[in-house]
Amino acid sequence: MKQKGKTFDMLAPQITPNRLHYDFSLLPQYLEVLFAKLRIAVVFGGNCDREGSVIYKTHNPRSWKSYEVVAREIAAALAEIGCKQVFVMPDDMNLPEKLKGENIHLVWLNTGGVQGYNPVCHTPALLEMLGMPYVGHNPLNSSTLDNKHAFKRELESVGIKTAPFVTWHPSQGILQPNLQQRFAIAFGDYRGPFVVKPVSGRASLYVHFVEKIEGLSQAVAEVHRTTHNTALIEKYLPGREFCVAVCGYVTYAKGSFSKNTKPFAFSTVERVLEPEERIFTSMDKKAITADRGRLMGAEESELKQELIDLARKIYWEFSLNSLVRIDIRSDASGELYVLEANPKPDLKRPAENVTSLVALGLAEYGMSYNDLILSLLADRLDYLLTQHGDIIPHIVDLLH
Ligand SMILES: Nc1ncnc2c1ncn2[C@@H]1O[C@H](COP(=O)(O)OP(=O)(O)O)[C@@H](O)[C@H]1O
Ligand SMILES: [Mg+2]
Repeated sequence: MKQKGKTFDMLAPQITPNRLHYDFSLLPQYLEVLFAKLRIAVVFGGNCDREGSVIYKTHNPRSWKSYEVVAREIAAALAEIGCKQVFVMPDDMNLPEKLKGENIHLVWLNTGGVQGYNPVCHTPALLEMLGMPYVGHNPLNSSTLDNKHAFKRELESVGIKTAPFVTWHPSQGILQPNLQQRFAIAFGDYRGPFVVKPVSGRASLYVHFVEKIEGLSQAVAEVHRTTHNTALIEKYLPGREFCVAVCGYVTYAKGSFSKNTKPFAFSTVERVLEPEERIFTSMDKKAITADRGRLMGAEESELKQELIDLARKIYWEFSLNSLVRIDIRSDASGELYVLEANPKPDLKRPAENVTSLVALGLAEYGMSYNDLILSLLADRLDYLLTQHGDIIPHIVDLLH
C-alpha cells in the first residue's frame, strides 16, 4: 500500500481520547495501523443440519449454500493485503459467543443465512444487536434485495424499469389468472410467455419459463411446493442479458486510494445465452467461463454506460453501502429492465478458466481481486470513520 511518508506518531494529534478527527487523506495511515490490530471475522452460512447449530431445524425458503469456499478466499485475500488477524466462522447460533471469544472487531458477511424466512437479513440484524460493525448490507437492504418483489416495487417507485409482475402467496390458494383483477392490471391483454420464480432465490433455481397463461397455475404451485413462499410471475423478457457490479465510493487501484463522487460500477458483462437457452443456466451447474460471460468493450460504449448509470442509480437510491451485482435483461426492442440485485454476489477469486461475474471486469480499472477486497474494506472503514466514529469506539481505540 502507498504511504505518504507519515509516521504513526504523526497521527497522534488527529486523535484525542474517544474522538477522532478523520478525513479521507488519513485513510492509508489508519489502515496501516488497523491491519496490525483489527480482528476481522469472515462469516459464511452455518449449516442447520450440524449438531448444535440451531435450537430447532426449520424451513429455509431460499436454497441454502454455505459459501464457505469463497469466505476462505476472501479471508486469504485480506491476509495477503496485510490484515494480520483474520478468522473464518459460520453464522449459526454460536456466532455471538465466537465473536466475543475471539475478540472480533469487524465482520465481513459472506452468508445467505442459516434457515428461516428472510435468512439473508438475520446475521446483519444479529450484528446490529451485538454492536458489531460489518462489511455487508444492513438488515432492511438485505431483506429488500433478497425479496425480488419488494425490490421491484421500490424500483418502480424511483422510476427504474423492471418487468411487469404479480406475486402469489401460498395462502392465496390456487392461482386463477383469468379471474384476477390484479393480473389484468399488470399484464393487460398479454397472455405469455412468462417467467415464474421464487421471490427469494439464487442461481436460477426453480425459475420456470411458462409459454402460455394456462401453464401459470402449475408453475406457481411448483414454486410454492419447493419454497413455501411467495411466487413471482413476470413478463418474459426475450432480449439479451447483462450484469453489472457496483460498490462504494472508495476504491483502491494501481497502488492508491481514491474517493469518488459516484459509486464504483464495473464488470459490465453480457451473459451469453446459448440458442434456445431462455433462462441463464445457474453457475451451480455451469461455471462462468469466458464464453458464458462476455466483458463489454468499446464496441457498445453507449449500452455499457447505460448499465453503469443504472447500477449507480440503484446504489444511490437504496443508500446501499456494500457490493451488489445487478442482473438486467432487455426486451425485444433492447430496452433494459432490472431483474434483481444480488445482495451477496459471488466473490470467487478468479482462477484459470473460472471466474465470477463480479471479478471479470476488474482489469479494465487496473484492479486485481485483492484490490477489490481492499476497496470494499476501505470503503466500509472510511464510511464508519466519517459517519460513525462515535459508535465504533472499539475500532477508534485501536488507532490510539
Ligand atoms: N422476466 C424474465 N425474463 C426473461 N428471463 C428471466 C426473467 N426473470 C428471470 N429470467 C432468467 O432467469 C435467471 C434467474 O433469474 P433472477 O431473477 O436473476 O433470479 P436468481 O438469479 O436469483 O435465480 C436470469 O438470469 C434470466 O436468465
Ligand atoms: Mg440472478
